[in-house]
Amino acid sequence: MEKETSAHRSAHCLVLSYPTQGHINPMLEFSKRLEHKGVKATLVTTSSISKTIHKAESSNIALETISDGYDEGGIKQAESIPAYLERFWRVGSQTLVELLEKLSASGSPVDCIVYDSFLPWALDIAKKFGLVGAVFFTQSCAVDNIFYHVHEGLLKLPLSEPEILLPGLPPLEPQDMPSFIYDLKSYPAFFDMLVKQFSNVDKADWVLCNTFYELEQEAVDWMAKIWPLKTVGPTIPSMFLDKRIEDDRDYGFSIFKPNTDACMKWLKDRPQGSVVYVSFGSMAVLEAEQMQEIAWGLRMSNSSFLWVVRASEEAKLPENFVEEMSEKGLVLQWCPQLEILNHEAVGCFVTHCGWNSTLEALSFGVPMVAVPQWTDQSTNAKFIMDVWKMGLKAPVDEKGLVRREAAEHCIREILEGERGKEIKKNAFKWRKIAKEAVDQGGSSDKNIEEFVAKLVLHSQ
Ligand code: UDX
Repeated sequence: MEKETSAHRSAHCLVLSYPTQGHINPMLEFSKRLEHKGVKATLVTTSSISKTIHKAESSNIALETISDGYDEGGIKQAESIPAYLERFWRVGSQTLVELLEKLSASGSPVDCIVYDSFLPWALDIAKKFGLVGAVFFTQSCAVDNIFYHVHEGLLKLPLSEPEILLPGLPPLEPQDMPSFIYDLKSYPAFFDMLVKQFSNVDKADWVLCNTFYELEQEAVDWMAKIWPLKTVGPTIPSMFLDKRIEDDRDYGFSIFKPNTDACMKWLKDRPQGSVVYVSFGSMAVLEAEQMQEIAWGLRMSNSSFLWVVRASEEAKLPENFVEEMSEKGLVLQWCPQLEILNHEAVGCFVTHCGWNSTLEALSFGVPMVAVPQWTDQSTNAKFIMDVWKMGLKAPVDEKGLVRREAAEHCIREILEGERGKEIKKNAFKWRKIAKEAVDQGGSSDKNIEEFVAKLVLHSQ
């Protein structure tokens, strides 16, 4: 490949992602948007996670790695979460510097680091090398707003009020807050990491968020008073949303291998809006009892279902469930989620409300049954039901579990009930607004244009 010379090279962005599927997906998609607009983008993640990545054959985004200090197993290899984060910071900083030097020596110098907000130390390196530093928030603006208030000492913890009032957000109950906040003992190291996202954000040249203005207007307006926040989402692959990029046939670096043929074959010829798609994302670990209740709820709903159960979760399914339900349901370890949500047979998404899954369902107009598990998901579930009116939050019992009757009821309501009709109308509305935001001249597209234009100027 011809080496670029400074006379005609385009601006070059490193896009540094925290090493999980829910962070790699939006940052990869953002990289593709940059490339489409004429900026060279290189996605960077850790060596350990890159070993497990299944790269789409046609993927044309360059992938580079740094080390988190645990090259064999990543966080799973670490003694503890705090030990992992501390070492990632130290070894990550050092290997990021080495990567910058390598790229510079190979004729592809870097102009800008777009870094995951979970890795604020990357900004120090960008500044040290005189590069543009752009923080990228992969979670919702509402969730970022909540952690910002904690960082500033404006939200007193532990929570003591039955209702939490924060500017730019609807009134929230304690259980609507991110789990690391309402249960401070659960993951103190992750809580710290989320609060520290804001430790140096005022020094960043750009503050980007994977949301779209129309979806979180009040929260965005409020945050934009503090920094020049720019919304750049939803980062859904353009092949689904933006038909301008016709040749964009790849959409992922997947940590698990999707069983695409089996899914598409099974979905084909199912009646429109009849299938329930169930997934709890790439990380959530369900209690065995919860898994069984969901299974019986699906069975009682009498609907066809496609359920993603990761290999590590399979043993929690009721005995013989897969065999007994083979007429009605397909259980798979991983699937091409976007193609599933985009399929007309799918009428309902039982989801853990990870931010990517939430944005994807909104963008494809698929009504949701919210079954949040941890981290930001409880806040996303609140917005899905009460703000965007895109679904129902399944009620939980005193043990915090969604019982089979509740799961059945929510699925039936969405597929056949009166509330389902209203939700489907809203789903149709959000689908349109999401597409407009990323389409040429839309709110997110304009922000990306502005970012690219300034970057190109900077690199000349
Ligand atoms: C994590 C957190 O749990 C989430 O709350 C946070 O907002 C982001 O990081 P994860 O649990 O994996 O992410 O959920 P989610 O954000 O929904 O991301 C999962 C991604 O994997 C989605 O982009 C989804 O399309 C994809 N996926 C999921 C598949 O491609 N196939 C599947 O079978 C399941």
